[in-house]
Amino acid sequence: MAEQLGDLTRTHTCGALRVEDVGADVVLLGWVHRVRDLGGLLFIDIRDRGGVTQIVFDKDDEALMAKGKRLRSEFVIGVTGRVQRRSPETINPKLPTGEVEVVIRKLTLLNEAKTPPFSVADEGQVSEDVRLRYRYLDLRRLKLQANIGLRHRVTAVIRKYFDANGFWEIETPILTKSTPEGARDFLVPSRVHPGEFYALPQSPQLFKQILMIGGVDRYMQICRCFRDEDQRADRQLEFTQVDVEMSFARPDTIFGIIEPLMRDIFAVIGVNVTTPFPRMAYSEAMAKYGSDKPDLRCGMPIQDIGEIFRESPFRVFREIVASGGTVRGFVVPNAGGYSRSEVDGIVDQAKAMGAAGLIWARQAEDGTVTSSVMKALGEDGVKQMLSAAGARPAELLLVAAGEPDATSKLLGQLRLNLANAKGMLNPAEYAFTWVVDFPLLEWDPDDKRYVSMHHPFTAPHDEDLGRVETQPGQVRAKAYDLVLNGSEIGGGSIRIHDAALQSKIFSLLNISQEEAKLRFGFFLEALEYGTPPHGGIALGLDRICTILSGEDSIREVIAFPKTASAVDLMSSAPSPVDAKQLRELHISIKK
Ligand code: AMO
Repeated sequence: MAEQLGDLTRTHTCGALRVEDVGADVVLLGWVHRVRDLGGLLFIDIRDRGGVTQIVFDKDDEALMAKGKRLRSEFVIGVTGRVQRRSPETINPKLPTGEVEVVIRKLTLLNEAKTPPFSVADEGQVSEDVRLRYRYLDLRRLKLQANIGLRHRVTAVIRKYFDANGFWEIETPILTKSTPEGARDFLVPSRVHPGEFYALPQSPQLFKQILMIGGVDRYMQICRCFRDEDQRADRQLEFTQVDVEMSFARPDTIFGIIEPLMRDIFAVIGVNVTTPFPRMAYSEAMAKYGSDKPDLRCGMPIQDIGEIFRESPFRVFREIVASGGTVRGFVVPNAGGYSRSEVDGIVDQAKAMGAAGLIWARQAEDGTVTSSVMKALGEDGVKQMLSAAGARPAELLLVAAGEPDATSKLLGQLRLNLANAKGMLNPAEYAFTWVVDFPLLEWDPDDKRYVSMHHPFTAPHDEDLGRVETQPGQVRAKAYDLVLNGSEIGGGSIRIHDAALQSKIFSLLNISQEEAKLRFGFFLEALEYGTPPHGGIALGLDRICTILSGEDSIREVIAFPKTASAVDLMSSAPSPVDAKQLRELHISIKK
């Protein structure tokens, strides 16, 4: 039978006691972490959020021993006792409390627990489905406690930083108007307006811009966003943004606010971040890394070596270059030891990714040259290719040819696979970069229309304004992403603050005036009442915390995440609802 808490009051957390406390009378409250029953000797580890403390029972106190022997893992207990120094041979250097123990005088059994489906105390592997089903038990485990605690400290730092810099945190609505562009909306049916729907915000984009029109000047919000899109390791249906908007801002103004913020955030894990962050044009990122979120920790930039094939006897490459294609490659350092079958494996990988072929070349330390195109190029040709790419002895050159974007994408993916497989991505290194100058528009071949690369409120580059109508595909945007170790941790832009230009962009996107009015009319109207130039950014808090905690999945830094199939295994959401609820919402379900 569970006992009452009564006036039992915690004096210390279970991680607090040290040798200085020897002799003190203490009360600890928490869970039974482990029981070590050695017959005549009984030890209990008690755990709370603060840590673990060893409790020792006096074997002569038979009643207390008997009560203690009934304890099982995850029972909730109160321990009243006195701190004593552990004997030298029982000191546990791995525990902050490992030099002391508490000799228990009174045990209060506050609650019992069913046998948990997995051990909270052992950090061993448990299937993720079971962890999510019993998330409350998983949350008691040290790793998740550390991650969730870290996330709290990060949000505290963020709020403090923005407050000190004159930003107001303002809540924007969760029930909003559906303005689909980008991902699918989650819709909420209205009971009082039959057949009408609210949408959950994909981001507070329009509201934060309207706050600038409303004279707020500097806004931030740590807000939940909802997107009905496929789940991945770095994506959730609902996720958290650190959303920011500033009036009278240029891209530099935004970078100047976000870079010191990143310094503060990384100081939480004791990492010193160097600012300013490097900047890279989108076109450069795509050509050199085959990605708009390049991981810069492993070097190996992709290089264009097409020129040397213009007159080459190697017909395949010569023809590709002549028809406007490229030959590109990257150099893998310290590859002298790669076996032939390893190299063949890389070629197979490239083929599995859809490449017509992948060529390799290598010069051994003794000067011997080998290559998959030795016959076609001859030794001199291979040497010329190695030297064009700047490959030194014992380095491996990997080369592909074809349409420029596709070639870089393929090589970029190979580069990452190799870097991962060869442990070239140091988890303790943090390589930030701003990717800038994104194209404003992207051609959607399915819909046969331009779509915004970021969103339709992004401003074109001043120099490209003249080309908006004549060469829309060539216009660069005042948009930027913040990339860290190959992850897009933020994205934003300077916005269009001119109603006429905004209408022009809508028409480029094939959004008619009527449609624009229907979807964004409130916003277009607001734009006409003295909108200041403004811009902002949103940071992906979950992704940042994932990197800070060294995890691979954002589910490890979210208290109650959904599975890859968009289900909350603990509460079983989504779930059917009553017929009555559906009737009230004027909804009937088609079987
Ligand atoms: P964007 O769509 O780029 O921009 O989102 C900003 C950042 O949010 C994170 N993110 C996600 N994190 C987890 N799960 C998801 N499904 C998910 N989607 C995005 C990413 C991303 O960089 N309104 C604009 C911002 C602006 O222009 O100010 C926006 O939402 O880290």
